[in-house]
Amino acid sequence: MANLWVKKPLSQLLAQASDSEKGLKRTLGAYNLIALGIGAIIGAGLFVRTAAAAGQAAGPAVTLSFIVAAIGCAFAGLCYAEFAAMIPIAGSAYTYAYATMGELMAWVIGWALVMEYALGAVTVSIAWSEYLNKLVGGAIPYEWCHSPLETSPTGVSGIINAPALVILLLLTMVLIRGTKGSAMVNAVIVAIKVAIVLVFIVVGWNFINPENYSPYFVPNVKTDAFDYTPFFKHGYGGVLGGAAIVFFAFIGFDAVSTAAQEAKNPSKDMPIGILGSLAVCTVLYILFAHVLTGVVNYSEFIDPAKGKEASVAYAISTYMSGYDWLATAVTVAILAGFSSVILVMLLGQSRVFYSMSNDGLIPTVFSELHPTHRTPYKSNWILLVFSGIFAAFLPGHMAGDLTSFGTLLAFVLVSIGVWLMRRSDPDTPRPFRTPLVPLVPILGAVVCLGMIVALDKYTLLAAFGWMLIGLCVYFLYSRHHSKLQA
Ligand code: ALA
Repeated sequence: MANLWVKKPLSQLLAQASDSEKGLKRTLGAYNLIALGIGAIIGAGLFVRTAAAAGQAAGPAVTLSFIVAAIGCAFAGLCYAEFAAMIPIAGSAYTYAYATMGELMAWVIGWALVMEYALGAVTVSIAWSEYLNKLVGGAIPYEWCHSPLETSPTGVSGIINAPALVILLLLTMVLIRGTKGSAMVNAVIVAIKVAIVLVFIVVGWNFINPENYSPYFVPNVKTDAFDYTPFFKHGYGGVLGGAAIVFFAFIGFDAVSTAAQEAKNPSKDMPIGILGSLAVCTVLYILFAHVLTGVVNYSEFIDPAKGKEASVAYAISTYMSGYDWLATAVTVAILAGFSSVILVMLLGQSRVFYSMSNDGLIPTVFSELHPTHRTPYKSNWILLVFSGIFAAFLPGHMAGDLTSFGTLLAFVLVSIGVWLMRRSDPDTPRPFRTPLVPLVPILGAVVCLGMIVALDKYTLLAAFGWMLIGLCVYFLYSRHHSKLQA
């Protein structure tokens, strides 16, 4: 009879971590890891969802929404950092759960992480397709860059999102060549996107119209354009609703921990990578949101004829006269930025699969390494097929909301896991210790649970369905193949 709660002994995990000869190469230093984090973090969340959150729920107080989301992420990030430094092997939250909460919970997290990483890559590839079409002046016919579930204002139905598929294919090929190469590509892209965010903040500051900050919170009204009366759509409730929307912008700092087995000096560099990338992005986001909602009135972000799409380009071309070149540069940088997000998401997903496969919970094909590049190339190809189908046929907002759910669930469980492990293995050396345990883990779990509650009910239903499928796979396949159960 299988034991659903069997835990992977810490000693076995640590032995696996030091046994790096046969496994993935250790090539990443602290700066690579921070770049990896920023590469995964700044993307569609900042350039698309900031405006959506301001227009639909928070108004100019979207800056406060960013602070709420950042607080949840910081608490969870401190917990991730303790685990990542202590158990520096590939697999992130999945691996930590295996050591602290047993096999079934590890499986649940691993399954939720597919929503975070694979669907995260899908969401951003769909956003990439939209911006590419903007860059080429709408030259791609509607039906070839939209899901069959979408229809244009003129009644054209989508067939397939071809650009989203193409970018996934290209980045899969980069990944298969190895993380060292992809880390270098990533570093260049990160520099470009941070530069463009800074330029927007500095230039845009001169174009802020203080009248746009009044009112600062969205009033409780129903207009022809939008119904702001529900609880999470105005006032302080709107700040929370906005936090659940912009939370997507922070997803990715935890991806640093999936690459732990490729870090040169994980015990020192993992906390720096995780908390460093989170800190840099939080500051940039707050400033960016402040400028964006100062330049454009939040009400324009729900108007399809104004700033609903490509809001940043809209802000520049409409209100920042003389800076048209910046609108084009921003679009190019956004495309590059989205690519690095997709890259890290795909990397994270294949590393989680790698660990699950090593443990016998999914087939061995997911951990077979390429003879020269030493990357899990077969896993990358399978992932391309899986994510490609979703990218080609699903609308972006559905994938986006499920991504937030999967991530928040993982954050909650990692936070609880740190506390559990302090009790079960108090004497194991911890190169980085989460401060104020159990307060920080509890606050991390509570804030992230609050954001789960603020998601819409269709997302919660779909996520529930996905988790049920996961349980069927576990009971029909994984528990019979688990190496720990052998
Ligand atoms: N944080 C990533 C983004 O905003 C997922 O695109």
